[in-house]
Amino acid sequence: MKATVTYVCSNCGAKASQMLGRCPVCGEWGTMVEEVVQSGAPAKGVRQRSGSTLQKLQDVSVQEDRRIDMRSIELNRVLGGGLVPGSLVLLGGEPGIGKSTLALQVLMQMGSAVTLYASGEESVKQIKLRSERIAGNPENLYIVAETSLEKILEHAKQLKPDIVVVDSIQTIGTEAIEATIGSLSQVRECAARILQFAKETNTPFIIVGHITKEGSLAGPKVLEHIVDTVLQFEGDQHYMYRVLRAQKNRFGSTSEIGIFEMQQDGLREVTNPSELLLSSNRDGLSGISIAVAVEGVRPLLIEVQALTSSAAYGTPQRSSTGFDSRRLNMLLAVLEKRIGFKLLTKDVFLNIAGGLKVNDPAIDLAVLVAVLSSSMDISLPTDCCMTGEVGLAGEIRPVNRIDQRIGEARKLGFSRILIPAGQKHQTVKGIEVVEVARVTDAVRMLFKQNG
Ligand code: TYD
Ligand code: MG
Repeated sequence: MKATVTYVCSNCGAKASQMLGRCPVCGEWGTMVEEVVQSGAPAKGVRQRSGSTLQKLQDVSVQEDRRIDMRSIELNRVLGGGLVPGSLVLLGGEPGIGKSTLALQVLMQMGSAVTLYASGEESVKQIKLRSERIAGNPENLYIVAETSLEKILEHAKQLKPDIVVVDSIQTIGTEAIEATIGSLSQVRECAARILQFAKETNTPFIIVGHITKEGSLAGPKVLEHIVDTVLQFEGDQHYMYRVLRAQKNRFGSTSEIGIFEMQQDGLREVTNPSELLLSSNRDGLSGISIAVAVEGVRPLLIEVQALTSSAAYGTPQRSSTGFDSRRLNMLLAVLEKRIGFKLLTKDVFLNIAGGLKVNDPAIDLAVLVAVLSSSMDISLPTDCCMTGEVGLAGEIRPVNRIDQRIGEARKLGFSRILIPAGQKHQTVKGIEVVEVARVTDAVRMLFKQNG
């Protein structure tokens, strides 16, 4: 067998015949890594599967409902109704965000189920110490500190656990190839071997993976193709809230999210996020508006905070946390052009309370109104929330799931909600629905009673 060397980008998976400082495909610096390929060896993954038979589609029976209940409403929802036996779940996120905590906690809540937590990062003592901070009373949770994949799989073979966690894929290696632990080829080979083991024994695996600073899973292309489900654990380290998002799911929808709160004793599920995200004392404060957003399929009430002040130097600052800054700039332009409100010499700071990142464009209107409220120093009526995407012409555009949004606002005690004009909706008792066609309508409506 002849070994040849190729170079692979660990970010996008592009191949090159020589070592390059910068990947020619994705343009990232320092991501090219060496990979040794054995020529003459049978291609990986090509194995004769003995006993495969042809079947008619209608004769194939699927046993649904065989999912494992993870005893966590949030996790179950993100997984699409529980963990599928034999499936491979990749749990990704930045270092320190709480992946190990989540993985260990999940196993600790599994009661009498036999589970295995294999860590290549921490010693058994460290895992024990961590577990002491987390609530849970597992009867059959086995732990092992191990970096050899073969040994981990051997343990799994003997133990026959219901769930295995491997923390993390970048810290374990297989003896089958020579590449260093953490390299792209090791990560890929280990994942492929775990997959094979998982399918053969019908054991579900949750593998933890670190993401690079650019926000993609290390060796993302290879891993995402191999696993059944990719869960991303995200949030701001300085805030308590963590969002678990399905980026890929062969067994469920990818629009679901789960919300957790990092506390002293592990992660707590947040089943009523809106109540927590709203501060109780907003009375009389300018620059604060309440948006009704939808993340996944769940409506969320979100507090948008804006602060404008005179720029000390020539170029004013624009800074936003939790909201796309280009979109903020666009909204400021709309504010100037359509309402005639000049912010050219003002610094603008925008913040989504709680450290959440919001992608729903329906919070546009609330952002715009918060900026206006801060720069005029007029507070908004506290009983009113809003939802609507803002277009370049200053028009308010329809949003999805309008009835759910109205329902959530009602549930949280708001007596008025601004929604895009002309959008069909149900009438809900106890909340006044105000349709607004343009931002000028919204502004007139909100600021009229205060002057
Ligand atoms: P960790 O799970 O180690 O992150 P990751 O595996 O993604 O790198 O979590 C790291 C942080 O969580 C760490 O700063 C400590 C904090 N933490 C708590 O606040 N409460 C807890 O109960 C635990 C176990 C950790
Ligand atoms: Mg960890």
